[in-house]
Amino acid sequence: MSVKIGIIGAGAIGKVHLNAFRRNGYDVVAIGDANVQAAENLVKAENLTGAQAGAPNDVFANKDVQGVVIGVPNKFHKPLAVSALQAGKDVLVEKPMAMNVAEAKAMIAAAKKTRRLLQIGFVHRYSTVGVAAKKLIDAGRVGNVYHLKANYYRRRGIPGLGGWFTTKEMSGGGPMIDLGVHVIDLITYLVGQPKALRASGKVYDYFGKDMKKYLYEGMWAGPPRYDGTFNVEDSAHAMVRLAPNITLEVNVTWAGNFPADSVKDVMGIFGDKGGITFNLAGKELALATEENGFNVDVKPNLKQLDAWDGQTNAFAEAIKTRKVAHADGESGLYVQSILDAIYKSSAANKEVEIKA
Ligand SMILES: NC(=O)c1ccc[n+]([C@@H]2O[C@H](COP(=O)([O-])OP(=O)(O)OC[C@H]3O[C@@H](n4cnc5c(N)ncnc54)[C@H](O)[C@@H]3O)[C@@H](O)[C@H]2O)c1
Repeated sequence: MSVKIGIIGAGAIGKVHLNAFRRNGYDVVAIGDANVQAAENLVKAENLTGAQAGAPNDVFANKDVQGVVIGVPNKFHKPLAVSALQAGKDVLVEKPMAMNVAEAKAMIAAAKKTRRLLQIGFVHRYSTVGVAAKKLIDAGRVGNVYHLKANYYRRRGIPGLGGWFTTKEMSGGGPMIDLGVHVIDLITYLVGQPKALRASGKVYDYFGKDMKKYLYEGMWAGPPRYDGTFNVEDSAHAMVRLAPNITLEVNVTWAGNFPADSVKDVMGIFGDKGGITFNLAGKELALATEENGFNVDVKPNLKQLDAWDGQTNAFAEAIKTRKVAHADGESGLYVQSILDAIYKSSAANKEVEIKA
């Protein structure tokens, strides 16, 4: 059965989703955007013959559309997801799920009430390294987990400087909500999302504030808008306590002063039987363990996967089987509760309880 998809958001990520759905043989039948011209331009540029281009509500009213993908500024995730659910559509919403815990809860409630599906765009769960790490951990190769590392350092990688990404009212924050959401989700998903207890974090804003001085090379969702707003953090660091006795260290930057590639996107899972490390965007992982009285590094030959294909097929499969396999609303709420606590801790300058 083919699945018919509508995409809300004709921007950078909307195009990525569009290509992924088409590549995997699904029909994208509608594109919606607050800027209808942008939707029309995308339909034209991608030769989406016969597809509808309009406002989000036009897509929700389209009877052919079964699943809706929402790829718009974070502030609109909740209202658009709820509208889509109420219109009877299944929803794949981009990360972060929402601006905060309260919004995430409202989205879960709407999905329950309408009996529609809510999947969160945790695309790294489907990557080569994400899938392989999960397999090894579930097979018991790590044993009891005691420490997790979640890093995503960019030297000069502020997205859309001056635009919605750097406007707190639209995005909810800087790299912690933008990149932290990916690494916190993946690392905690790998170990079964242990109950999140407390967080201590600090966020900084040394690079983006003086927009004209910011030395960027490339820019996602750019170019810079020098007359725009920058009122979010551009680097963030946190320690999170998970039950029963696990520490999680999170370091994420859009900008920082370190030599290129000296600090990267290293993820780590450490247990009493073994430890796994890999780069978030990497193609291989290593397992450190003990075998026959030797310290051994295991480097499996991994089947290379396209994470976007994986996510796209998971959503289509959910629509067919009526069940989201794992990246569901509850797991989005779990991550959101950690993000909220990190920001709260930074503002209060002390460790705080994590509340979902
Ligand atoms: N999974 C990933 O790795 C990844 C990567 C980049 C972005 N994202 C997420 O995708 C989302 C969009 O980011 P982007 O980079 O595509 O941004 P973008 O600025 O390139 O595009 C956003 C689009 O949304 C439209 N829009 C704005 N407000 C709207 C509204 N109220 N209703 C309908 N359309 C509206 C804009 O006109 C624009 O076309 C964000 O939530 C971001 O966090 C995810």
